[in-house]
Amino acid sequence: MLTIEWSLASGWEKPYIKPLENLSLHPASSSLHYAIELFEGMKAYRGVDGKIRLFRPTLNMDRMARSAKRATLPCFDKNELLECIRKLVEVEKEWVPYSTAASLYIRPTLIGTEPSLGVKKPTKALLYVILSPVGPYFASGSFNPISLWADPKYVRAWKGGTGDCKLGGNYGSSIYAQQEALELGCQQVLWLYGEDHQITEVGTMNLFLYWINEDGENELATPPLDGIILPGVTRQSILDLARNWEEFKVSERYITMSDLTAALEENRVKEMFGAGTACVVCPISKILYKGKHLHIPTMENGPQLTTRFLNKLSDIQYGREDSDWAVLVS
Ligand SMILES: Cc1ncc(COP(=O)(O)O)c(C=O)c1O
Repeated sequence: MLTIEWSLASGWEKPYIKPLENLSLHPASSSLHYAIELFEGMKAYRGVDGKIRLFRPTLNMDRMARSAKRATLPCFDKNELLECIRKLVEVEKEWVPYSTAASLYIRPTLIGTEPSLGVKKPTKALLYVILSPVGPYFASGSFNPISLWADPKYVRAWKGGTGDCKLGGNYGSSIYAQQEALELGCQQVLWLYGEDHQITEVGTMNLFLYWINEDGENELATPPLDGIILPGVTRQSILDLARNWEEFKVSERYITMSDLTAALEENRVKEMFGAGTACVVCPISKILYKGKHLHIPTMENGPQLTTRFLNKLSDIQYGREDSDWAVLVS
């Protein structure tokens, strides 16, 4: 693991790479009481040429710095941290799976270690990074579509809140709804927002809808970054690729459940998928909404576009295609 201590009095200390060990924290540490903590999620991939790559890691560093600001945790030099992470992965490179279906998950974390119960900006913090090899997301090697539960009774994020940052509290408080989804036979929560039941995110993924829109145009749509959406690296990459292809309209726009149900009735929905570092893309086949099971025809349509994004992004991650989105570790 990599650890770097910070205090208001001395700033950032020397970074250390050392064997994984338990932390020793004061029981009043502000991360334990007030969730003054944040995390990131990224991966290292061993390419077909044996080289190890990170995928757009500067976007993770940017997001981590934004989360730190929102959590009143100390800011840091993003390039220096990335260099420390690069070095950590280099030291531990034998843990990066020799497989183009697996990768090494990297979890940077920043916690408040203020040893006091006052609800205030911490004067002590600890930044650490831990690693774990992860296997293929779709175990069978082919896409397993997911079913979603959409109910406005739980809200993941709200305007003025912290949903656009990767703060631990956002995730801990989402598990209750996830449990209810499982009890209802669905795999993940489709998070809705507002009176008009806007579709926001799915589980811990950004959401994409490929459809024929209200004006009869082929459109790839995802909700806009209006403060309640986590700005995913995969989301950004899908938008960048699709805009570059110039084959259909690409929009960051609001989509409500009534937009979706109308489109389903009129056979205008082609594919719906989640997007995130864990799975790259994840097709959606069913939504339970207002007691009805809505069938989403993603799998019947290939899923062509979902597969195209998966192939393109994995080609870059595993070095089958050259791209400046891939950053060499060694
Ligand atoms: C709420 C949420 N949305 C979307 C994402 C996808 O982001 P990324 O593509 O950077 O993994 C994540 C994962 O980090 C997330 O936690």
